[in-house]
Amino acid sequence: MLSHLQFTTQCQRAIEDLSSIQPSVASVLDKADLSHARLYEELVSSQRQLDARAGNDAVGPEWLWREFESADELIVGSIGLSSRQGIPIHDHPGSSGILLVFSGSVEVTQYQADPGSGGQRMTELEVLRHQRYEIGDYVRFTESEGNIHSLQGSHRDCLLLDILVFPYRLNERRWYLPANTPERRAGQRVKTLLMKKP
Ligand SMILES: [Fe+2]
Repeated sequence: MLSHLQFTTQCQRAIEDLSSIQPSVASVLDKADLSHARLYEELVSSQRQLDARAGNDAVGPEWLWREFESADELIVGSIGLSSRQGIPIHDHPGSSGILLVFSGSVEVTQYQADPGSGGQRMTELEVLRHQRYEIGDYVRFTESEGNIHSLQGSHRDCLLLDILVFPYRLNERRWYLPANTPERRAGQRVKTLLMKKP
C-alpha cells in the first residue's frame, strides 16, 4: 500500500488535475477541506478489512465499499476488490470524480454512449480507453464524458480511494448489460441493455 507521503502527493495531484479541467469541483473540495491524514487513516482501516477477507472463499461478487464522508455535493470512500473481482459497466450521471489506487492494481474501461443509438432500453457504447492502473495511479472521471465505466481487479486484492463530486441519486445510476465486454480496445462498440437499479 502507499506510504502516507506517497498518498498525500498523489491525492493532491489527482485533485488538482480534476479541478483544472472542471473548476466547479475545486470549490466543493476546498469547502470540504479533506484532510489527507484522515483519509489515509480511513484507507488503512479499509485495507485491514480487505486483508481480513483475503483467501475467504465465501466472499461473493460484491466489492467492499466503505464511506468516509457524505454530503450534498461530495461522497468520499473506498472500494475494495478481492482478487479478480470487478464492477460491471455503470454510470454516475452528472458526477465527476477520482479513483486513486491505494494498493494492488485495477483495469478500468471508460465508455461513451452513442445518443443516437437504441431507444429507452438499448444503447450503444464506444470504448474510450482501457487501461491498467498500478499503485499510486489515479483515474479521472468527468461529467462531460458521461462517466460510464467498469472496473476489473487483478490477481491481487486492490483498494481504491473514491472521490465523487456532485453525487447522483442512487436511483439515477444505470447498469449496462452485458456487464463486461470480452475485448476492450478503444473505438470498439458494444450494444448494451440498460438496467435501472441501485
Ligand atoms: Fe463507478
